[in-house]
Amino acid sequence: MAQRTIRVATDPQALARMAAEHLVQSAEEAFALQGRFSLALAGGSTPRALYTLLADAPFKDRIDWSRVHIFFGDERCVPPDHPDSNYRMASESLLSKVPIPAEQVHRMRGEIAPEAAAAEYDARLRSFFRTIRPDLILLGLGDDSHTASLFPHTPALAPTDRLCVSNWVEKLKTHRITLTAPFINSAREVMFLVAGKSKAPAVKNVLEGMPDPNRLPAQMIDPADGRLLWFMDVAAAEMEDQA
Ligand code: 6PG
Repeated sequence: MAQRTIRVATDPQALARMAAEHLVQSAEEAFALQGRFSLALAGGSTPRALYTLLADAPFKDRIDWSRVHIFFGDERCVPPDHPDSNYRMASESLLSKVPIPAEQVHRMRGEIAPEAAAAEYDARLRSFFRTIRPDLILLGLGDDSHTASLFPHTPALAPTDRLCVSNWVEKLKTHRITLTAPFINSAREVMFLVAGKSKAPAVKNVLEGMPDPNRLPAQMIDPADGRLLWFMDVAAAEMEDQA
């Protein structure tokens, strides 16, 4: 069972600042431990505020980007310049604005066949994390309690020894590429970043509901001997506005 921490910020901007501060500390810990920091980025729209903060002073100057390795939690099956690409969002908001060596940005190739892309990424993860654990994996939460591209009642939820798989998502009528729960749970830290009232029911179901991971995939995330962080704004945490 992971050591679970829940922190609530007053609004999405305060949430982004809280997450940025924690990320800087996580990076410093990793640099001290092993001389580099492996960070898996979440997709969707919520993390954009965090990435934008990290790309600018003061946060930009508080991280030694030359020692950072970027991975992705999941990717849509589209080219990297497509509007739906998680890589494109991260590149526009962060990666194009910080001095991180290109070879240290490990992109899921959404533009090739899904299973080939997943197998390729699985191999890359096995090689990079042969002797170390991922330092920090950022995750979002969907209204349906999915995380990464681990959607309810989809094949990627089945037990697996894979680190990355392709996943057919019937409700979206598309494949996705996603890290698997076992790989996510191997991380030293996993941070959920959740904002907005629409997420409150999913947050409550995942954190307080009966265990039902097939319906609530975010419940699968429980890093064995790592830290599980839930960073939310008051709307997502369904707390009265701190007026
Ligand atoms: C994706 C994400 C997905 C996302 C949630 C929340 O590729 O869409 O990986 O898991 O984090 O759907 O998305 P929002 O932040 O846009 O609400």
